[in-house]
Amino acid sequence: MEILVIGSGAREHALVTALKLDETVGRIICAPGNAGIARDVQTREVDATSAQAIGDLAAELRVDLVVIGPEVPLVAGAADAVRAHGIACFGPSAAAAQLEGSKAFAKLVMDEAGVDTARARVCKALDEVAAALDEFGAPHVVKDDGLAAGKGVVVTSDRDEAFAHARVCLDRGGDARVVIEEYLDGPEVSLFGITDGTTIIPLEPAQDFKRAFDGDAGPNTGGMGAYSPLPWAPADLVADVTEHVLQPMIDTMRERGTPFVGLLYAGLALTSRGTRVIEFNARFGDPETQGVLARLASPLGQVLLAAATGTLGALPPLEWHQGAAVTVVIASKGYPENPVTGDLIGGLDEAGAVEGVTVLHAGTRATADGIVTAGGRVLSITAQGESLAQARKRAYEALDRISIEGAHHRSDIARAAAPDA
Ligand code: AMP
Ligand code: GLY
Repeated sequence: MEILVIGSGAREHALVTALKLDETVGRIICAPGNAGIARDVQTREVDATSAQAIGDLAAELRVDLVVIGPEVPLVAGAADAVRAHGIACFGPSAAAAQLEGSKAFAKLVMDEAGVDTARARVCKALDEVAAALDEFGAPHVVKDDGLAAGKGVVVTSDRDEAFAHARVCLDRGGDARVVIEEYLDGPEVSLFGITDGTTIIPLEPAQDFKRAFDGDAGPNTGGMGAYSPLPWAPADLVADVTEHVLQPMIDTMRERGTPFVGLLYAGLALTSRGTRVIEFNARFGDPETQGVLARLASPLGQVLLAAATGTLGALPPLEWHQGAAVTVVIASKGYPENPVTGDLIGGLDEAGAVEGVTVLHAGTRATADGIVTAGGRVLSITAQGESLAQARKRAYEALDRISIEGAHHRSDIARAAAPDA
């Protein structure tokens, strides 16, 4: 089987790394990829925001399966463009990707499916915003309705700041909408389900660290680190969320005439009143995927192909490696606001030599002088170990071997969950 992977982050590097381990997978091409992916597989240029460019590339390469990593091409209809060429695609149609593309749409479907989530008001004008902020009280949660690369959500106890964010979102004009919702307390869990539109198979849960700095300080980012498994999570969490969240969502999407094929990402809060959905994404999460796929023992290519061709129900149960995985993200100076790029990255091979460690690339670019930074999140250091503590120790040992001028990372990834670290 030949596979085209679309995207350029550490998530796509993790996908490529896992696909290479599947004996049924032959050629892998990644477009556009990054400097690290290009060391492992063939890469091609593509405008990864253009559905048509992605469909055309798939047709030119005559691959058997296309795996689309990021949300932007999915929302733009890249999966539809690939399928129009008669090629199997792992990723939802534009209509189904609206579960991520519009928070208001996701709320509507959750309501139809009977899925528990934060109470919310969809607002088109500032007087509605003011009323909703007062209705729910502090802490305030204000979300841009559309895609915002992880930066559309503000959680604050400062009503003026909440109101100001809503104003920025609505000032975009057109049919701009903002979602104001009740604050959910409790730890967050990311649970991914792989689905062919009818059957949904959960992966192992992970926890993501969204804020930029230690102790959950600073602005929201795309994600600064993650770990899996979650020793503190209830034993029936995955079964419970599959039954009460993932399966009803998939059934409802199918009944609406927009079946969801690909990866449904449930961002959950385990609140004192029960598990609630914070958000859905229509793709693998980054950085959670890096560790979750490192732990997967089943052949990934066969699983993704089965999802893309409607045969997941015939697949044997997934198998997992024992132990744990921890991912620490190294981000450029100034990330997330104004990342500085073009700095030389030292120590890549030395970091990769630490036992159990894979250095996955995100914003990197090859130059005549060596590999340099080319984006906000630069590397995902992913370590496996027999325990979270061991994986964590290995990840930070590898990280210490990397040198990038002004770069930053969190030093508390998985610390609370790995007590003997
Ligand atoms: P989202 O993009 O919807 O995942 O939101 C980004 C982050 O904002 C989440 O991971 C949470 O940490 C936080 N957040 C979003 N919605 C809520 C909520 N209703 N209550 C508390 N925190 C939230
Ligand atoms: N890790 C958060 C996300 O992928 O959206």
